[in-house]
Amino acid sequence: MSIPFLDLSRQHKELASVLNASLERTLARGVYILGPEVEAFETEWAKFSSASSAAGVASGTDALALALIASGAVRPEHDDEVITSPLTAGYSVLAIKNAGGVPVFADIDPQALTLDPDPVRQAITPRTRAIMPVHLYGQLADMPAIKQIAKRHGLTVIEDAAQAHGATREFESGDSVPHAAAFSFYPTKNLGAIGDAGAAVSNDTTLIDRVKILRQGGHEPALQGSVPGRNSRLDEIQASILRVKLGYLDDWNERRRAIARRYNDAFKNTSLSLPEESKERRHVYHIYAVRSDRRDALQSHLRLRGIETMIHYPFLVHRQPLFRQAGSGNLPVAEREAKRILSLPLYPQLRDDEIQEVIDAVLEFEES
Ligand SMILES: Cc1ncc(COP(=O)(O)O)c(C=O)c1O
Repeated sequence: MSIPFLDLSRQHKELASVLNASLERTLARGVYILGPEVEAFETEWAKFSSASSAAGVASGTDALALALIASGAVRPEHDDEVITSPLTAGYSVLAIKNAGGVPVFADIDPQALTLDPDPVRQAITPRTRAIMPVHLYGQLADMPAIKQIAKRHGLTVIEDAAQAHGATREFESGDSVPHAAAFSFYPTKNLGAIGDAGAAVSNDTTLIDRVKILRQGGHEPALQGSVPGRNSRLDEIQASILRVKLGYLDDWNERRRAIARRYNDAFKNTSLSLPEESKERRHVYHIYAVRSDRRDALQSHLRLRGIETMIHYPFLVHRQPLFRQAGSGNLPVAEREAKRILSLPLYPQLRDDEIQEVIDAVLEFEES
């Protein structure tokens, strides 16, 4: 049997009739960009995220970049610094560059693999304007500690929640610092479109209104023409798909969590380091990553058994030439853990027999 890392056609099969009906309605309406579907999705997504408002944009990368600009954290031609994690998709850091900011990397927590508050404190300079924690693999970063640092130093927090739909409900408790979160709806995400899409959410309606101006060129007088916008409009087809799938997201996340529990249980007496969840830091398992000192051998073993795995991410971002910064060399935890990570198949439609097959293959390797 062959087990792909992810098979999105299974999700489509489950939803084909409702998706097709929604598409037909949307197509027949004759409005294709930033229309009623986008508006309705924005309202629904803000509610789901416990924020007061949301702006739909063309991608998660743009959601991050526009939130950084709209919050005033990154200003044109100021070389404003944004502290983030080196263990993330390159897009996280590209968003900082695209906004006109300077990424600065801080080391990660050895268990959660998200930003470690102490190195974040040490990375602060007079140029620091924002912290961009990444909720890696679907688990919240240590938001209380990060917000506290931000408050103390007058910084903005822009969450990279691209992998954390349903994990981040930080807005519930009210904000003590300028704060927004950015989501990606890339098709593989926990909530995925059928193309590119993204959204920024916040309790700061002025910030979200600015994102809405910036996504359409940025021409409106509210910004006095001083900030270049871009074309980052969300289309009606993507919004209509997202609205349908949003109705299933909580169930899908619960299924992801159940599969993760099954893996964790099966692997608890092995040499693997497993994802751990604390009460305050919900995990929605966009990715289930184990860590092994024999990572490459484990991956080869699973490949021979027909099980596809991936590495998120094979290169730390601060090692990539575009992002190499002076002073970003000392990230020992990220350097060590990046060599050990391996992502196993985990998605809501993964069948129980397939889960068992992954478990058996991993245990067989562990006993070898
Ligand atoms: C952590 C993280 N940040 C940002 C992004 C960028 O999102 P998008 O691909 O929608 O631009 C992604 C996904 O690719 C991601 O996984």
